[in-house]
Amino acid sequence: MSVLIAPSILSADFGRLADDIRAAVDAGADWIHVDVMDGHFVPNITIGPGVTKAVRAATDVPVDVHLMIERPELYAAAFAEAGADVITVHQEACPHLHRTVQQIQELGVKAGVAINPATPVETLSEVLAYVDLVLIMTVNPGFGGQAYIHSCTDKVARVRESLAAVGRTEVDVQVDGGVDASTAPSVVDAGANVLVAGSAVFNHPKGIAVAIDALRGAIMKAS
Ligand code: DX5
Ligand code: ZN
Repeated sequence: MSVLIAPSILSADFGRLADDIRAAVDAGADWIHVDVMDGHFVPNITIGPGVTKAVRAATDVPVDVHLMIERPELYAAAFAEAGADVITVHQEACPHLHRTVQQIQELGVKAGVAINPATPVETLSEVLAYVDLVLIMTVNPGFGGQAYIHSCTDKVARVRESLAAVGRTEVDVQVDGGVDASTAPSVVDAGANVLVAGSAVFNHPKGIAVAIDALRGAIMKAS
């Protein structure tokens, strides 16, 4: 399974968002990750379907929407309409998770389920047969630029094992938070195949292209 890089636009320059997205894709970004926050599920407010539509218009690569919001089932259709290819909801925000996963897939979009650092992998056991992607948060969601929580690496390995146990080796395992050239090799070794990186890409002192090269180099170092 090749390892994909998904820059998070949370750390991009919103005044020149399309330029930053094109720079990332030209440098080899595989997906563009869009962080949607509602000020309730997480203590920050970001963007909605309108900006997602602008992201969609700026690139041909898959648009990966991470919904850090309450009642995501009320908004999934709007993000699908805006051009999302993947919509990920949080297990903690979905009392009817199986239904929400199905709802997203019926919109013609890949369905992901995310868990926060304090949420056990076991809470996903009943939906592993259905999901297209599992997102292991490696920071507490809400802000870019936080430090990677090392105890989460083992959760990546355990979700990969659980997926293999139900014959679902094709499911994407994504990590999000504090991923940079120093933390990338261990998450790839643990079984992650989609790496979200915000500040490591858009705040790199030498620019976006150097940042993505550095991440790609770090991924190659994984054993
Ligand atoms: C955190 C978001 C992340 C964030 C990652 O709540 O879900 O996608 O942008 O930012 P970095 O890579 O800076 O930790
Ligand atoms: Zn995210």
